Amino acid sequence: MKNNIFSLKNKVAVITGGKQGIGKVVAGYLADAGADIVIFDLAEASDVAAEIANEHGVQARSYICDVTNPQDVADKIAQAGSEMGTLDLLFNNAGICLHKEALECTPSEWSKVIDVNLNGVFYVAQAFARYLIANQKTGNIVNTASMSGSIVNIPQCQASYNASKAGVVHLTKSLAVELAPKGIRMNSISPGYIRTEMTGTVRQDWQDIWVDMIPFKRMGTPEELAGAVIYLLSDASTYTSGSDMIIDGCFTIV
Ligand SMILES: NC(=O)c1ccc[n+]([C@@H]2O[C@H](COP(=O)([O-])OP(=O)(O)OC[C@H]3O[C@@H](n4cnc5c(N)ncnc54)[C@H](O)[C@@H]3O)[C@@H](O)[C@H]2O)c1
Repeated sequence: MKNNIFSLKNKVAVITGGKQGIGKVVAGYLADAGADIVIFDLAEASDVAAEIANEHGVQARSYICDVTNPQDVADKIAQAGSEMGTLDLLFNNAGICLHKEALECTPSEWSKVIDVNLNGVFYVAQAFARYLIANQKTGNIVNTASMSGSIVNIPQCQASYNASKAGVVHLTKSLAVELAPKGIRMNSISPGYIRTEMTGTVRQDWQDIWVDMIPFKRMGTPEELAGAVIYLLSDASTYTSGSDMIIDGCFTIV
């Protein structure tokens, strides 16, 4: 019988932005696939780690970590590596969104979005890849981009977010090529509209317009992203790197 190529058993996975939303749900599914779990978030997330450990019988820890601070990121990767024994996989997912017209956007608002969504993804990927190489390990990274990296959302204005996510898609391709000789793969997922804390507070008339524009006539759920992340982090995708998987209920193809 063949081994389960989707299994993440004996792997330790870091999830950034794992306190809530997509990160929290996907972390549970990675644990279900056998991985031990490390949550990085600005917010304290020991409750999430405890819940995952209890439910899935894996080891899980959480660390407060600001992905925009490269020293904090490097320190927490080192600490998590030492406390968990090793690190293998990264779901590089923390992000924020700002709905604001470009003409009204201040330099600090612009910089904040780029800093979390693009610079943060780079700092965590860089520190993680350095950790793997220093420990003579191969490994695997999935970044959370967005369909907003390929299309311009309406009716809300969110140029900083869209630009940051387009950056994540191409950063993923660039690092995939650089890291290929080191045995490290990197792919991205580009979700469409997904029901989470991030989208839940958006005004209802905008959400109604989104749903009307989505061929599936509904927003997605974080659960509907988990299979893609497991696939890309597992041995089911060993020849896949630098790819972007759009998961959007057909939004971007019409
Ligand atoms: N929800 C959607 O419709 C959607 C669609 C496409 C892409 N995405 C992307 O998916 C990712 C997760 O989105 P979500 O909907 O779960 O959002 P969310 O707001 O529910 O969760 C984001 C998490 O990231 C954490 N975070 C924010 N800034 C951080 C920082 N500097 N350092 C560490 N952690 C930080 C937050 O504390 C939070 O726990 C984001 O990158 C988002 O851009 C979301």
